[in-house]
Amino acid sequence: MIEIIRLTKHFGDLRAVDELDLRIERGEIFGLLGPNGAGKTTTIKILTGLLRPTSGRVRVAGIDMEEAPLEAKRRIGLVPDEPFVYPKLTGSEFLHFVGDLYGISLETQRRRIPELLEMFELLPYGGELAESYSHGMRQKLVLSAALLHEPEVLLLDEPLVGLDPKSARLVKEIFQRLSKRGCTLFMCTHILEIAERLCHRVGIMVSGRLKALGTVAELHRQARHGAGGLEDAFLSLTGGLEYSALLKNL
Ligand SMILES: Nc1ncnc2c1ncn2[C@@H]1O[C@H](COP(=O)(O)OP(=O)(O)O)[C@@H](O)[C@H]1O
Ligand SMILES: [Mg+2]
Repeated sequence: MIEIIRLTKHFGDLRAVDELDLRIERGEIFGLLGPNGAGKTTTIKILTGLLRPTSGRVRVAGIDMEEAPLEAKRRIGLVPDEPFVYPKLTGSEFLHFVGDLYGISLETQRRRIPELLEMFELLPYGGELAESYSHGMRQKLVLSAALLHEPEVLLLDEPLVGLDPKSARLVKEIFQRLSKRGCTLFMCTHILEIAERLCHRVGIMVSGRLKALGTVAELHRQARHGAGGLEDAFLSLTGGLEYSALLKNL
């Protein structure tokens, strides 16, 4: 459902993404992990057609993003790293606006929007301006918007940041159900526990390159000190942490 072929993106001299190759199957929940600045958001932006690659290709649902960007984008739901909403629209108006952008009939919008608001426990706030929403509520509104047109592929950049534990659990449950229904999920996350509990496979990206790829169990075996959890595997694969140097000014 997602094919990334020798993908490279330069910003000036910086290689933000460096010859990345990745294939994600239908229904898979894939987690892209990596330290800050690894190139995760850049990869998602290229997958959604927001950025053009320096070289290489991406295909979503078999459609090449450069050849047929609109066709590809129709199949994608995006949750960007910052939950952007229009402050002067109500939650419900925002979803109708997004529904119009995707060409969803008014009849379908009138059915699906209350359903989505209810699922994300936003129904009582649907008539309130988005500017009054907390960060977590905005995040859930953006998730509702991403699901409105029933996309085949969901691209999620740090989707659980800002959610309280109950909402985070709800969203994880929703992701698992979507996956069982055949939706493909590609998410970047800093939260290793989510990758561990939710993702069928994870990739660890460092400086634009994929350092490791596999199930969480496989990554444990790849990491040199395999006994610990994903956190130890992650730190070992990303070069560990020199605490004493980092903490010298404390
Ligand atoms: N528009 C841009 N212009 C210049 N450099 C950028 C731009 N976007 C990202 N970068 C750089 O590319 C690298 C990867 O960034 P990003 O993909 O946001 O990393 P991540 O999401 O893994 O934290 C970083 O060094 C970042 O500073
Ligand atoms: Mg990022």
